[in-house]
Amino acid sequence: MADFNGQILTSLLSGKLIGNSVHFFHEVDSTNDVAVRLALMGVSEGAVVIADAQTKGKGRLSRVWQSPPGCNLYTSIIIRPPTEPACASQITLLVGVAIAELLSLYCSEVMLKWPNDVQVGGKKVSGILTEMRTSGKEIDFVIVGIGINVNMKREAFDEVIRDVSTSLSEETGIDISRCDLTVKLYDNFEKWYTKYIREGFEPVRDAWLKYSSRDIHVVSGDGLQKGKVMGIDESGALLLIDEDKTTRRIIAGDVSIIED
Ligand code: BTN
Repeated sequence: MADFNGQILTSLLSGKLIGNSVHFFHEVDSTNDVAVRLALMGVSEGAVVIADAQTKGKGRLSRVWQSPPGCNLYTSIIIRPPTEPACASQITLLVGVAIAELLSLYCSEVMLKWPNDVQVGGKKVSGILTEMRTSGKEIDFVIVGIGINVNMKREAFDEVIRDVSTSLSEETGIDISRCDLTVKLYDNFEKWYTKYIREGFEPVRDAWLKYSSRDIHVVSGDGLQKGKVMGIDESGALLLIDEDKTTRRIIAGDVSIIED
């Protein structure tokens, strides 16, 4: 905890786009909610919110994101991309790529599970919650919320997720500096974000497919389907070929992906 504070992070991030202003808290409801409030007040692109603990950490599909103090990373990045609202899911995929590439420095077997789970050895180590505000056809801001289980011990996970979740320290056997990880995360996000703004979605899509699991189950309105990931399209939808060799286009929110 000693090296994980706003002052140190501010000095390490000086001169960068992502992290140009650091809002560090010991405890907040949700870093995403704080970031929304800051963005509405007009803070500029690249501002970040970090907390040691969250009392109302939010996951996708109204789930809770377990957020105890002293061990993990909970952060939200404010961006104002010059793209259309329809591109929001591309940004979620981009964040997944930035995290997967970063975590590959620490562990092998890092995989992305569409749309936004980052897994190590088949267990979830990180999640992404992207929220967006638009004005007409323009994006006003996007909040990129990232949770990474860093030094959390297996026993500390809620029983219901203990067998499907993990942390970097559980996987590597060593304690990891949250400060170091945070700086590297913002650096890598900045690299992928600027590449995306300059070159578009193609490089992100290629990198995402490199990290993606191939065989998945999806649960949708049509029931349980098993299929192979063929790709993702421009809108970020998953292209799946099912057991009848039919290609299906799966849109986030319509499905949940379950363990094999
Ligand atoms: C998921 O996989 O369900 C998404 C989890 C996202 C958790 C992060 S922690 C930082 C940020 N603040 C929140 O309340 N949620 C995101």
